[in-house]
Amino acid sequence: MTAARFAVRDPATDAIIDEVDACDDAAVDAAVAAAEAAGPGWRARPAPARGELVAAIARRMRADEARLGALITAEGGKPTAEAIGEVRYAASFFEWFAGEAPRIYGETIPAARADQQIVVERVPVGVCALITPWNFPAAMLARKLAPALAAGCTVVAKPSELTPLTTLALAALAEEVGVPRGVINVVTGQGPRVPTRLVADPRVRKVSFTGSTAVGRAVLTACAARGVRASVELGGNAPFVVLADADVERAVAAALVAKFRNAGQTCVAANRFVVEAAIAARFEAALVPRVAALTVGPGAQPGVDLGPLIDDRAVAKVRRLVEDALARGARLVHGAVPGASRFVAPIVLAEVTAEMAIWREEIFGPVVAIRAVADEAAAVAAANDTDAGLCAYVMTRDLGRARRVVRQLAVGMVGVNEGLISTAQAPFGGVKASGYGREGSRHGLDDYLDYQYVMTTALDTP
Ligand code: SIN
Repeated sequence: MTAARFAVRDPATDAIIDEVDACDDAAVDAAVAAAEAAGPGWRARPAPARGELVAAIARRMRADEARLGALITAEGGKPTAEAIGEVRYAASFFEWFAGEAPRIYGETIPAARADQQIVVERVPVGVCALITPWNFPAAMLARKLAPALAAGCTVVAKPSELTPLTTLALAALAEEVGVPRGVINVVTGQGPRVPTRLVADPRVRKVSFTGSTAVGRAVLTACAARGVRASVELGGNAPFVVLADADVERAVAAALVAKFRNAGQTCVAANRFVVEAAIAARFEAALVPRVAALTVGPGAQPGVDLGPLIDDRAVAKVRRLVEDALARGARLVHGAVPGASRFVAPIVLAEVTAEMAIWREEIFGPVVAIRAVADEAAAVAAANDTDAGLCAYVMTRDLGRARRVVRQLAVGMVGVNEGLISTAQAPFGGVKASGYGREGSRHGLDDYLDYQYVMTTALDTP
């Protein structure tokens, strides 16, 4: 037991909604010990039986979506409909990996000699540390936890200090449906102390991290120091490319989703709108009234499109990026420089250039930053002008052109005429500074499995 607790606040009101443990080193060590002790029993359970329990978590989540959604809104701020959407999105990972559990196939390989047999099995890596961000407290946990459980791993989850309640609720719900004690452990805390201790623990055999590039690199360094597996989903700086032949209405609809989901606080948010000059005026004219119609308010208030930003630091960052862009010559098309309020109304900037901070940094807020370019080649060059490589969006009616452009984009995921690409069936992840490893799809299991190869030689029978 740890004595210290810390407050969890509602970003809409700053009111304290709960308190959770500030785990000390002993509590982290105890969580890892519990995960390790539960490992042999969990991995010995047949994969279909593990899958059934993973499916049961999804069923319970769906049955409880209103309560879980309200919790996500309370600690993360997103509107109720989006929060319930996140619960369903999270449940879909448990459903997907429940189906994958019985399909963790090994293989046999022809051996060089007739008396030999080579069999390859996929075996769980062991105790996994799952470090998750605040922007999707249910879905980002589910995307790691579901494949870990399906693979036969036990886990210690470390949620963001801003949104620990959803993780605690999901862990409790998993235990209620029959996941044995010790298989899922949660450690909570503020600052780097808990994750640092967790990642350094020699009993932890794999770390999965979603969050900022800076912290992700520190996690990778710590993992490299002791030669332990890591997968990291880091920041993005997604280009949203509108080619001259795009269907403008479709492009605007996709832009609204890609930009304003969770008030722009997603790694896959459209960060830079790269628009061919021939269509720029039409795109802007169609986009602005739709942006102006978006409502901002407390997430629990019916009909709200955008909730508050997560905290004052997030607001200050958006303000700095908008001020810098305006000072360097961007045109304010819609909205105003944010003040102190966490309720940031959507902003549209045009004539954005590569010299502006908003071009280089993840905005993580409701700002559309538009740069017009001369042609397709310039659009591709502008799209790739970033260290990040998580995802991109391409709007065009011409699928041949789409293919040509997509092949030149250095990103892990692309939406063509689509603003929402996240789904349990597809491998989510990036290239370049956006990290490595894939979550979701059948590939999402790979990070939680090792290969074990057995060569057997038949002995002559007397
Ligand atoms: C993220 O922001 O990291 C992920 C969002 C998503 O799954 O769509």
